[in-house]
Amino acid sequence: MNIAILGTDPTETNTLKECLPGHVLHFHSGPLDDGFASCPQMAPVEALCVFVHDRVSAGLIAGLPNLRLIVTRSTGFDNIDIDAANRAGITVCNVPTYGDNTVAEFTFGLILALSRNIHRAYVRSKQGDFSLAGLQGSDLKEKTIGVIGTGHIGLHVARIAKGFWMNVVACDPYPQQVYADLLGFTYTTLDDLLEKSDIVTLHTPLTPETRHLMTAERFGLMRRGAMLINTGRGGLVDTPALLNALDSGHLGGAALDVIEDEGRLGEIGPALLDQRPNLLLTPHMAFDSREAVGRILDTTVENIRRYTAGDPCNVVSGPTPDSNSGHIGVVDES
Ligand code: NAI
Repeated sequence: MNIAILGTDPTETNTLKECLPGHVLHFHSGPLDDGFASCPQMAPVEALCVFVHDRVSAGLIAGLPNLRLIVTRSTGFDNIDIDAANRAGITVCNVPTYGDNTVAEFTFGLILALSRNIHRAYVRSKQGDFSLAGLQGSDLKEKTIGVIGTGHIGLHVARIAKGFWMNVVACDPYPQQVYADLLGFTYTTLDDLLEKSDIVTLHTPLTPETRHLMTAERFGLMRRGAMLINTGRGGLVDTPALLNALDSGHLGGAALDVIEDEGRLGEIGPALLDQRPNLLLTPHMAFDSREAVGRILDTTVENIRRYTAGDPCNVVSGPTPDSNSGHIGVVDES
């Protein structure tokens, strides 16, 4: 197959070259805009292998007439115009479970940093200021954490939270009561979770239903001094509403691994951080452990091999083995 692969580092490039012999691979480091399709060498492209920052738009799909497979090296696939892919009969595959523990561990990294001011202490230490003034934090033990979305990652967050002796409440339209009983957490409504939690952490996919799940009204329901952690997707949060809640002192802090309009992080990030010591930003890196990236590449190679063998796996949208010819099946991410 003729495959365009976006945004890989040298190690990933070598691995994909080794593991995908017999395919024509084009490695591309530039932005995946609609102009990408007008590069002459992209005309025969049959498969796109992308990452979270690569936006696969309807315009791009229309410009690649031979495209039949999109493989994203991520769990979330909100970077892909699924409706346009469906209309074009393109199969879309993701990596459903590469880093459940990885993202959950990072979530706790953010929680610990924020609740104990580790990020501020680091900056001050670099400046030669080793005083404790203004750095006092609070324990996690016996605090309540609200986990929004108890899929692969959210369940690991609940598991780790119990290790800190925290109370865990959760909400999910598809509760997993067996795990709730096993790990010792309770399900409740979103509003009740927001009212009860000292820390709220987001682990849902970004869909039309979850876009701006965290509105001004919902920030208003959160406890004064509570914290928000977002390792899900930036679009889950109404950013101006979050900034208001932080600046008014209603929220105690926020740690965001993902923000809206993430492609402009370099531009937006400094303005967000300016004068907000209680805001911690990281550059969408929760997935990025050696072990998880290895699993991402293994699954990506498997997704391409299985598709070319006529037995696609990890299909989130588009023609599947069960599809009758011409029928487009859509598999929900959850
Ligand atoms: P998952 O699909 O296993 O779990 C998502 C859960 O959210 C499901 O249980 C679903 O029922 C629930 N959900 C859907 N709508 C909801 C709502 N309105 N309220 C509450 N719960 C809702 O997904 P997984 O693997 O746990 O990943 C979650 C998200 O984390 C991904 O979709 C992705 O966007 C993000 N992610 C971020 C990474 C990073 O590096 N920052 C890395 C990997 C994933």
